[in-house]
This record gives sequence, structure tokens and C-alpha cells, in this order.
Amino acid sequence: MRLGVNIDHVATLREVRKAAYPDPVQAAFLAEEAGADQITVHLREDRRHIQERDLELLRQTVRTKLNLEMAATQEMLNVALEVKPDTVTLVPERREELTTEGGLDVVQRKESITSIVRLLHDADITVMLFIDPDLDQVRAAHKADASGIELHTGKYAEAHSGAQQAREIERLAESIQLAKKLGLGIAAGHGLHYQNVAPLLRFPELEELNIGHAIVARAVMTGMKDAVRDMVRALER
Ligand code: PXP
Repeated sequence: MRLGVNIDHVATLREVRKAAYPDPVQAAFLAEEAGADQITVHLREDRRHIQERDLELLRQTVRTKLNLEMAATQEMLNVALEVKPDTVTLVPERREELTTEGGLDVVQRKESITSIVRLLHDADITVMLFIDPDLDQVRAAHKADASGIELHTGKYAEAHSGAQQAREIERLAESIQLAKKLGLGIAAGHGLHYQNVAPLLRFPELEELNIGHAIVARAVMTGMKDAVRDMVRALER
């Protein structure tokens, strides 16, 4: 299982103060040192966390793979063709949302998505489509000639009961099986954390997980004591 570490929320912490730190580029370096297989960032239309400057520096410094999540728009296509990440993951995007809600509707948007996939492939970029675990969407992703799919695990992560969670695992299982049959690459992500990730490891066909919020949140906590000690020392000096 490959781990893509999404570092958007390091940039969120910087942008709430419009400060120079914490720097997501430094976080990416540390994530790679700790064993991440990929660095994932979402350049949003409103630039609420990751900025173009981050993307450019990450392209120069990331030694594993750089995965750019972006909306399927002309503006973002231009950015991707300029920066040339290893992978683009096309995601739906609404300005007012707190985070990505739901997967891309590839069935409805098949022409525009197919043409963006083609242009990205022409630039040698792997293209993943972030979709809900829905068989029609998996088939549409295959028809759009995507390299693979990233299955939205949000509903699984938010399930309130064991039965609901089991239903969501079943939906994920069916989509994984179909995607495998169609020869698509298979990733998953959204809302995964230290307590809910284990059941996904039973799918050998699932190749990659992209996890962000939980890792950045834990980093804040595990780093808290050192950070306070450093400040106490600075005051003593
Ligand atoms: N995968 C995709 C396509 C996403 O949009 C996100 C959130 O930006 C993630 C994975 C990571 O989700 P989380 O931050 O909840 O781990």
C-alpha cells in the first residue's frame, strides 16, 4: 500500500495568518523522510491553502511522486501543463465547501473530462479521477481513459453505525473489483484516520491511500511538547 501524504493543511495554518510558516515544502520533505510514497496537494480555485509558489517549489524538491488534486477546469489544466506533476487527480470543487464533498460526476461530464484526460496524458501525466464508489462512475472513468480512480471514502469515514460502515465497505469492495477488472489503477482517500484505516487494508487491489487532515492534526499534537520546550529555552536565553 502506497501512502500519499496530503499537506494542504500545513498551508492552511500558514494562510490563516498570511505568514511565511509553516511551509508545506518543508512538511513534504519531512513526510518523504518518514516514508511517504507521494506528496498530494490540492490547488483550489480560491487558493485557501496551497499557492502556486508551493506547487513550483514542490515540483523542484519532491523526490517521490507529486500528485496534484485539481478541478477539471481550463485554468487548472494550464497550471498542470506548466508544472507537470507526476499525477493529476481530478476532483469536483465548490467554492463554499469546507472540503471536497462527493466525487466527480464523470457520467454527466464525460466529454469535458475525457478531453482533459487526453491533454494531460499527452503531457505524460498520470490521471486519476476522484469518484464515489459507484459502478457507473467506475465504468465512466474507464471510458474516459483515466489511468485510474481514487475512491471517495468520505461516506465510509462518516458512517455512524457498524452496519452503515459495513455497507460502505461493500460499496468500496464492488468498485475496487470492477476497477481491477477494467485495468484501472486504484487509490482511495478522504476522512481516513488512525482508527478507521485498517479495514481498507484487506483489499490487495487497493494500491494507494491519500491521507491529510489526520496526519497534520497528529503532527501538531506530537510536536507540541518540543515546540513549547523550544520557546521556554528561547525565553531563558
Ligand atoms: N483525496 C482527495 C481527492 C482529497 O480531495 C482529499 C482532501 O483534500 C484527500 C484525499 C485527503 O483527505 P483528508 O484530508 O480527509 O485525509
